[in-house]
Amino acid sequence: MKLKFASIALIPLAAVFVLRTVVHAQGDMKSVWDGVYTQAQADRGKDLYSTQCASCHGPELTGGEMAPPLAGGEFISGWDGLTVGDLFERIRISMPQNSPGSLSGQQNSDILAFMFAANKFPTGTAELPKEAGILKMIKFEAKKAPQQ
Ligand code: HEC
Repeated sequence: MKLKFASIALIPLAAVFVLRTVVHAQGDMKSVWDGVYTQAQADRGKDLYSTQCASCHGPELTGGEMAPPLAGGEFISGWDGLTVGDLFERIRISMPQNSPGSLSGQQNSDILAFMFAANKFPTGTAELPKEAGILKMIKFEAKKAPQQ
């Protein structure tokens, strides 16, 4: 009984902690428009994409009979407001559809870099990381936010 009360008392404390983390995270958020991958990484991803994804999603990422496009307006608006981490997890868990989970985190991150290049997001000086937690700090935005 005592234990139960103690854990109930902890709930507001936990809520404050979660809230603080969220607020903090938003302050550190980046966007796909900030140059979050390198050209060299996208080039590595291109080869992987060709062998692992192109058969279904098309060599130009325009989609196939069953598979949706991975570049262009429809794709971009579908992910608008989510994070790169969400997209990374989607790929990690369910793709390639004929062998889900068969690629390493590094490979998935390189393929994402190639997808970003195809969607004309700008390159930067650092590679896109492969840790889902860090990727969740990068916002997927359809449009570049106006300069402050
Ligand atoms: C055997 C065919 C096939 C292969 C190979 C394949 N995909 Fe897919 N993919 C699909 C299909 C079909 C869907 C839609 C249904 C679903 O979500 O499972 C899809 C959905 C997706 C989506 C969600 C798109 C959206 O906007 O909702 C992403 C992202 C994706 N695939 C990425 C990849 C990547 C990256 C690879 C290569 C590593 C890959 N796929 C390989 C068939 C495939």
